[in-house]
Amino acid sequence: MSQAIESTLHESRLFNPPAGFSDAIGGAYVGSLDEYRALHERSINDPESFWGEIAGELHWFRSWDRVLEWDCPDARWFVNGKTNLCYNCVDRQVDEGHGDEVAIIWEGEPMPGGKPEVRRLTYRDLQRETSKLANALKSLGIEKGDVVTIYMGMVPELAIAVLACARIGAPHSVIFGGFSAQAIADRVDDARSKVILTCDGSWRRGKIVPLKDNVDEACAKTSHVENVIVLRRCGNDVQWNDDRDHWWRDLTLAAPDECPCAPLDSEDMAFLLYTSGSTGKPKGIMHSTGGYMVYTYLTSRYVFNLRPGTGQVYWCTADVGWITGHSYIIYGVLPNRVPTLMYEGAPNFPAEDRFWDIVERHKVTQFYTAPTAIRAFMKWGDEHPKSHDLSSLKVLGTVGEPINPEAWMWYHRTIGAEKCPIVDTWWQTETGGQMITPLPGATPTVPGSCTLPFFGIDAAVVNEQGEEQPHNSGGLLVIRKPWPSMLRGIYGDRARFIDTYWSRVEGMYLAGDSARRDDRGYFWIMGRIDDVINVSGHRLGTMEVESALVAHDAVVEAAVVGMPHEIKGEGIAAFCTLGPGYEASDELKDALCAHVTTEIGAIARPDVIRFANALPKTRSGKIMRRLLKSIASGEENTTQDTTTLEDFTVLAKLREEKEG
Ligand code: WTA
Repeated sequence: MSQAIESTLHESRLFNPPAGFSDAIGGAYVGSLDEYRALHERSINDPESFWGEIAGELHWFRSWDRVLEWDCPDARWFVNGKTNLCYNCVDRQVDEGHGDEVAIIWEGEPMPGGKPEVRRLTYRDLQRETSKLANALKSLGIEKGDVVTIYMGMVPELAIAVLACARIGAPHSVIFGGFSAQAIADRVDDARSKVILTCDGSWRRGKIVPLKDNVDEACAKTSHVENVIVLRRCGNDVQWNDDRDHWWRDLTLAAPDECPCAPLDSEDMAFLLYTSGSTGKPKGIMHSTGGYMVYTYLTSRYVFNLRPGTGQVYWCTADVGWITGHSYIIYGVLPNRVPTLMYEGAPNFPAEDRFWDIVERHKVTQFYTAPTAIRAFMKWGDEHPKSHDLSSLKVLGTVGEPINPEAWMWYHRTIGAEKCPIVDTWWQTETGGQMITPLPGATPTVPGSCTLPFFGIDAAVVNEQGEEQPHNSGGLLVIRKPWPSMLRGIYGDRARFIDTYWSRVEGMYLAGDSARRDDRGYFWIMGRIDDVINVSGHRLGTMEVESALVAHDAVVEAAVVGMPHEIKGEGIAAFCTLGPGYEASDELKDALCAHVTTEIGAIARPDVIRFANALPKTRSGKIMRRLLKSIASGEENTTQDTTTLEDFTVLAKLREEKEG
């Protein structure tokens, strides 16, 4: 991590939007940096006219009275406007005569007989299927405002599920399929959700992940769930509870295929999405309907230069279980009427060229992925992309973590053939949409920098007093003005909402990242300022992993820190002290890893576990995390044999003496 920052400090390569880009893409929406600057200025100085105009490009059952009411930290966008996300994604396209165009291209992971399984769903298909499922949900008593939990693999029915919820105004809470039963139960409890939509299993690298089993186990840990709807995907055996479980197919076959989209208030909650913070359990980030819709629509359009009716195929490789999948597989893309591709499985199944095979076969024009994936592709070797025709690609995107300049250059050369602009998009679950990002036809890019704020975004690097920092010195990344897709709160926890985002710097949204701006004014994200680590682009709280570890009988105390990891960006290092009767061993390490996987999910599995007599603490009793971080990064020499108990207290003493 520190190495990455060091190298970005010296990065000076500048890449102008490639000549011919605008022609190749059918016209760039924003064609130059000057144009960007003029429009950005207007969007900041007169947000109401700017956003009012954009919102007017979408469908509203009733127009708004005012574009914005702002009483920090509470925003109301498109006040009293009535709209519906599903209508704008689906029904509107049908009503405007595009019902038979492809909305979703889906490819499954297995390759039976060497052939991929591909499904194409039109807007009309989506209208019918979301209506049926919405009616099925209603038949189970789900009403507007009821939270629907969704725990599914990357199948088209996952998109149908979220859109069906949007149709009737039942906020969804999508849980990534890699999370454990315990994680599902925690989220269901927090949201008091009465229904779960799931699959029998999901495919991952040729194996079946038993999603229904996990849901069964979760239901045993919570009393809220009354109904479970199960989609058959893998055909694996499942347990059945006649009072609670329903086959997706039975329910939807019986359901009528008409269900009008409910006119929702612009500020009605569209969904909840749980994300990790520095303390406690994951928090349910609340997003609204109107503002979220307008912002994700515009960012999708401009950042990827989506042009309906020009043969584009857009592919974001994220899972719908994360915010990237919500905003940039579904909600932002469908209203732009460009087909969105969903791929079910792993990038290296059956072989390491799977993504490039997909790009070639479907003639993907915009491709959006994470730095961790790019680093894996680099490691797997250039022969994989080189054996495919990638010439359909026009725009490349990255998201989730800082991209190291080497990975950026590889992406630019090997995937983009030096003719595709790279959009390095900085944003968060909380921001709902992309916040700091190049525009492909306008912004010259520098490897490792997310460049400049999107329209309407007043981003700054400040100190604790809220004063803007001079260029090239680091500080806190804040957003100083409200934006349409900003989070509306943390579900059920107003105090935590204020405390986390609005109390450290008066009147500004605190992102939780540190950043600096260079001489051009470009932003460089330096890393988190809290105890959140970023593992393969996934956010994890160190506290969550620590709680999981100490929940094991053997562990008395645990400290978890991030460490540099070649592929994942950050890996997880856990330092544990053991209770009486337990001895350090490789078996115990394995048991602890398995335990964390059960408590949270495989993404939280520690990369390294080290056992200690005691954790290094300051005189006032605080765990010396910085010391542990440098030990984990190999900066401090300690004994090589890490299965024996180590004595970090000696190091701590030395360090304390040194630092006085
Ligand atoms: C990090 C993902 C550098 C950052 C959309 C942020 C990034 C956290 C970038 C949010 C980027 C995301 N460059 N860092 N382009 N994009 N991050 O909520 O630390 O899963 O605060 O949202 O990821 O992660 P989240």
